[in-house]
Amino acid sequence: MQNDFTFSIIKPNAVRTGKTGPILAMINEAGFEISALKMIHMTLAQAESFYEVHHGRPFFEGLVEFMSSGPVFVMILKHENAIEEFRKLIGATDPAKAEPGTIRKKFAVSVQMNAVHGSDSYENACKEADFFFSGIERF
Ligand code: RTP
Ligand code: MG
Repeated sequence: MQNDFTFSIIKPNAVRTGKTGPILAMINEAGFEISALKMIHMTLAQAESFYEVHHGRPFFEGLVEFMSSGPVFVMILKHENAIEEFRKLIGATDPAKAEPGTIRKKFAVSVQMNAVHGSDSYENACKEADFFFSGIERF
């Protein structure tokens, strides 16, 4: 079924400061089911490849440096209308604009270090999930 899963990353700042557990708890409480999960440390080249869509934007260099600065958790999450529901749960890119009760409102420290990534379309969720997970790592 289209749009029944999304792809997410718990970003290096959140992992480094011990927020993985609390973030996973919020994801669980919101009704998402973990379909794949692993901890990885991206190389700069891997982060550049993942964020290729933002190549040339003024924040690109800082973003890929940050995303390869430490381990992250990558995951595939199942839910009805997963893309939209997860974007609602994480809140606005800029934590100052994020709604109360969202993951970014609680755990983001800046626009760049905004704790989590969530896919913005079904097409990108498929690409992003395939970038990190093989078929036998998905349940
Ligand atoms: P994400 O892809 O991580 O879920 O975030 P998003 O859709 O809310 O935001 P997007 O526009 O896709 O940007 C990707 C990530 O780049 C960093 N960013 N920095 N300094 C800046 O102005 C700026 N703008 C974006 C953020 O880490 C953002 O999540
Ligand atoms: Mg995005």
